[in-house]
Amino acid sequence: MKRLFSGAQPTGTLHIGNYLGAIKNWVDLQEKYECVFSIVDYHSLTINYEKEDMKKRIIDLAATYLACGIDPERCKLFVQSWIKEHTELMWILSCVTPMGELNRMTQFKDKSSKNVGNVNLGLYAYPVLQAADIILYKSEFVPVGEDQVQHIELTREIVRKFNARYNTDIFPEPQEILSSSKRILGIDGENKMSKSLNNHIGLDDDDKTIQQKLMQAKTDPARVRKTDPGNPAVCNVFSWHKIFSTENEISECAKGCVDASIGCVQCKKILLSHMKELITPIREKKAQILKDTDYIKDVLVEGAKKCDIIAKNTINEVREVIGVKI
Ligand code: TRP
Repeated sequence: MKRLFSGAQPTGTLHIGNYLGAIKNWVDLQEKYECVFSIVDYHSLTINYEKEDMKKRIIDLAATYLACGIDPERCKLFVQSWIKEHTELMWILSCVTPMGELNRMTQFKDKSSKNVGNVNLGLYAYPVLQAADIILYKSEFVPVGEDQVQHIELTREIVRKFNARYNTDIFPEPQEILSSSKRILGIDGENKMSKSLNNHIGLDDDDKTIQQKLMQAKTDPARVRKTDPGNPAVCNVFSWHKIFSTENEISECAKGCVDASIGCVQCKKILLSHMKELITPIREKKAQILKDTDYIKDVLVEGAKKCDIIAKNTINEVREVIGVKI
């Protein structure tokens, strides 16, 4: 099986957009690839964070993955900062990374404009650490969202630079795997679902919260009264139906909206039952897992042990190739 790497920052509870856009994809990919999944805590030092929360967020993210179906028997789930070779390789790679390339990174421009008071070197070098994460395991594939494609392209560039500079081919050029589902919009119907905009439906939300949020969700703005005909093509709730509901329900909701035979509340109730079907088992399983933090830690320790072997091998090879090994 070919090796694949992906990582996510422990930045707090996840929502159905994260699930559909990333986690579900990771779970499915376990069938076909040797998967290495990392909780990239060192990446999250690049923006201001609450030190007291970090431990909890790492545990929480691990529990979320396990509850969603990441299987520690089949893949390696670990915390980035536990494997020192990530930062070591990053330094070596930073010495072949042109600053001109880093200057082009849109995520850096975006994040630095939002954190004017804290534009640090780590934020700038972030993509080099990401490249190190990936190639430390000689990963050939990287499942990511579209916003990360530029970083994977840069990773390939860094690999080419490294291989050329040291006249070697130890690192393969990794390819991104984009998830087929598009980013979903939040309950405001305008922006993509995001925790910071508070327009999300969380994987931790209870039934009542899901219902409240869904009932507030924007539909076709032109459909004011139940008797007004609506246009499913511009209705965000309908776009969610296309993800969650059965073919029959989708066509019935579309038809009922156009001829005003069903109202938005009724339409949302159908969707609600499907959202609950997705979220409830994940939420309950996660609560169960979180009761046993020793188990979570064991999983992460086991994951790190397996990663450690690969990481040490790669770094040995790299030290040889760059000429520092005596
Ligand atoms: N930058 C990624 C994100 O924000 C997280 C990440 C860090 C990552 N290292 C990685 C993703 C390596 C894929 C591979 O989503």
